[in-house]
Parts: sequence; structure tokens; C-alpha cells
Amino acid sequence: MDIKVLVADVAKTKVDAFMAGLFEGTERLAGDLAVFDEALGGAISRLLEQGEIKGESGEVTVVHTLGRLAAARVAIVGLGKKEQFKQDRLRGAVAAACRLLKKKSLATVAISASGGGIFDITPGKAAQAIAEGALLGVYSFRKHITKKAEHGDIEELMVVAANEAERTILERGSEKGRVVAEATTLARDMVNEPGNYMNPADMAETAAKLAQENGLELTILGRDRMQELKMGALLAVSQGSCNEPKFIVLKYNGADSEDIDLALVGKGVTFDSGGISIKPANKMEEMKGDMAGGATVMAAISAIARLKPKINVTAIVPAVENLPSGSAYRPGDILTAMTGKTIEVISTDAEGRLILADALGYAVKLGAKNIIDVATLTGACQIALGAVCSGTMGNDQGLIDKVIAAGTEAGEPAWQLPMYDEYKEQLKSDVADIKNVGGRMAGAITAAQFLAEFVGETPWVHLDIAGTSTAEKERGHLTKGATGVPVATLVNLALGLQPESGR
Ligand code: BES
Ligand code: ZN
Ligand code: ZN
Repeated sequence: MDIKVLVADVAKTKVDAFMAGLFEGTERLAGDLAVFDEALGGAISRLLEQGEIKGESGEVTVVHTLGRLAAARVAIVGLGKKEQFKQDRLRGAVAAACRLLKKKSLATVAISASGGGIFDITPGKAAQAIAEGALLGVYSFRKHITKKAEHGDIEELMVVAANEAERTILERGSEKGRVVAEATTLARDMVNEPGNYMNPADMAETAAKLAQENGLELTILGRDRMQELKMGALLAVSQGSCNEPKFIVLKYNGADSEDIDLALVGKGVTFDSGGISIKPANKMEEMKGDMAGGATVMAAISAIARLKPKINVTAIVPAVENLPSGSAYRPGDILTAMTGKTIEVISTDAEGRLILADALGYAVKLGAKNIIDVATLTGACQIALGAVCSGTMGNDQGLIDKVIAAGTEAGEPAWQLPMYDEYKEQLKSDVADIKNVGGRMAGAITAAQFLAEFVGETPWVHLDIAGTSTAEKERGHLTKGATGVPVATLVNLALGLQPESGR
């Protein structure tokens, strides 16, 4: 989809559909809608009066203009209540509208980012949200479907500006939106790929491609190097699979210093069968998405490289496959992580925290000043928060707050869970320093407490995306299947960590 920003008269813009936002509770039409209503002889106000359109969030009504406007159709897009209107609503509304317009096989659509309905959001941020909504809302993963798609793509989105000065601002905003949306799309594609197309070597290959395209520094460690570094926890998880583990490191340098301002660590289990503690067969196929954390940090650092904030960021992905076999690790095994800590394995299905133990240990050893890890870590988090919020925990409230704020703006909410010391009790082992499972109670928190043991004093935030990395149905800018959450959060966070940034 091309996105073009132009100064134009909305009544004279020739497109298949012109989108215009409507708040819930609107009594008198304003902005673009008033212009369209007048041209249509009051048709829109009548629909409003009759209660046929309400402006509820997610509502999209298409009205044919029958030659009275240059646009063939007006798409009236519900924005919900005015008081609750933020970027995420706009992003979601545009996504819902574009999905519907795509189903009608319309090729050109338009929206103005300054006129009716933008309320309280700066034009630049509005343009960003519009671009993100349009590009992400129509996402589909058809790579392995041989039949031709029923509907064509929306070819062009015109974003209409009021004047030249505004055009420049909108252009910048929509460009940023495109970068974020393309990164999110990349993460979705990676997560939607099954285990036979996205194994650790495939992830490493994807990383190499991203490094090349975006000028990132790339390091890939194989099994031998992991052995030298004594990554005993990560190696144990990998040993049941014939696919060699890969430890992927991508570096972006935007500051003059050698510091690593931010390390993004992502769980990269390309398929999680549970290992010897094997999972039930029902829905096991969903565990192809257990590398979502890894995919999102790789996608985020590529977007960061394109947006060029003045900080240094390193993405770290331990990529492994968790399978049962004669060489697999077992419950009861005692592992020694890179930091020297010993771990008693209670369940081989709690493998994410094991590979992260070594990846976090590696990030600390590199001297990272802040660490964010992203992982489809626990079913418990999915049960607690569902698909709406990621769980977040950490050892630094300031950094947690920044992550939550970055997520809110991105339309990727995160909800904090407590990290009271009392929860650590559950991880005590009789035979090792710590065990990898703390029982069923507070499973998302005890998993985070386990990770906390490997970050020491470094400010660290953990995002558990077990519930949010995939969706059962479309909602706002999220589509069914992989969501790409929390790519946009990580990008926002990196931009906000720049020294001169006022965020
Ligand atoms: N990958 C799973 C967590 C998961 C569950 C992700 C559902 C996405 C959707 C993780 O490795 C796992 O199996 N966790 C166990 C931990 C338990 C053994 C302590 C779980 O949550 O059941
Ligand atoms: Zn598991
Ligand atoms: Zn897992």
C-alpha cells in the first residue's frame, strides 16, 4: 500500500472511499463529515438521527455518494467516546475501516489527518496512527496458501493535509508509522511461520538479512561458542533437537559512546513441545509461536535502525527447539547457567526461563545499562490477563513505567504484576541454587522471579506476551494469528530513551 500525503480539497478528492471519523454522542456533524453531509443532502445526519450510525468504536458505515462527491463512497468510522479518544482508538478505527474496504475490493482510500475527528492528538501522531492502522489492519499471512486471494489489496491511501506546513508534519508521521508497521509485519510473518520454516538456523538467517538491510552488526554463536561461554541452561534445552541452537546478537549504534543503553532479549523457542515433560496434543501447534519474543526484538531493532535514535541498542535472541528425544534433558537434571548459578529442572516445559537465564546473563556481561526481555513465558500470564494486556514485571519501577507508557501509546497495553520477595520461596530447591518451576500459584510472577536471579542489579523489565503475541480474532489493528506485539512498544521505548528526548 502506497501512502501519499497531499494538500487537497476533501470534496474533490477522487478515491474509491473517503474515511471520516465520528465520535459517539455527536449531535451536529463537523469537519469532513459536515462537508460530505451537505453534498449528500443531509443523508449522514439522517442516519445519525435515526440511530443507524452511532459512532461506536469499531463501527464502519459505507455510504455511496452517487456522483455528488469526487469520492465514490464515504466510510463513516466510529471513534468511540471523545473523552477516551487517543492514538490507539484512531489506529484501531482506521484498521477496521481498511479491513472492510479491502473486503469490498476497493483500491484507493483517503482520510484527512487534520480535519474532523482528530481531537487532542497532534497531526504527526495522528498520521502515524493512521499509517499503522491501515498497514496492519489488512495484514494476512498467505505465504503457504496456493489459491489466489479473494480480494485485492488497497493500493493507495491518501492522507489529506490542510496546508503545506502540515503536509510536511503528516509526511514525517506517516513515514514513522510505516517503519513501525513494517517491523510489526515482519514479526507477525516470523511468528506465523511454522517450526519447519522457522527453526533456529532460519531465525539466524533472518537476522543476517535484517543486519544487511539495516546496517546492524551481527554476531551468531553456535553450539561450540555457547559451550565455551558455559551457557549450560540454554544448551540443555537445545539438546533434544537435531537443529543446532543459535545465539543471535544484533547491534545498533546510534550514540558516540560504547555503552549499550538498551538490551532487548527475546525468547526464541522455535517450537515448544514441552520436551520430556511433553505438552498435551491439543493446540500444541500453537507452540510454533514460542519464538515471538525473539521475533519482536529482531523486528524492533530493525525499525530502530531505520529511525536512528541517538542511543545504542543490542538485541539478543537465544534460538532453540524444545523436543523430546534420547538426547533430551530431563526433569531432575541440574544445570549450571553462564552466571554460575545451578538450576534444578522440575519441568522441561519451563524452558523459556532457562534459555533466558543465559541470554540475560550474557546481556549483563556485555554491560547493558537497561534490559528488557520479551517472552511467551507462561500459560499463567495468559490466564491472568488474557489477550488484552501483556504482563510486566521487573526490578526498576522507573523503567517499568516507561515500558507501560510506551505500550499505551503503541496500542499494546501492559499490566504490572507484583514482585514481592515472598514469591521467591516457591523457587527454593533442595539440591540446587534454584528450581525452574515454582508451582501453579502465581506462575507468571514466579517465572519473572526466576529471571530476576540472572540480571543482578541491572535495571530490567520483563514482558510476558504468552497471551498477547497471538490473537484468536481481529481487534483494532491486531489481526488473527500473530499480532507482532510488542514491537511498537519497544520502538517507542528506544526513541524515548534518547538523552534529549522530552518523553
Ligand atoms: N511456551 C510456554 C508458555 C505459553 C503457554 C506460551 C501458552 C503461549 C501460550 C512455556 O514454555 C511453558 O510451557 N510454560 C509452562 C511453565 C510451567 C511448566 C511452569 C506453562 O505455562 O504451563
Ligand atoms: Zn514450555
Ligand atoms: Zn515455551
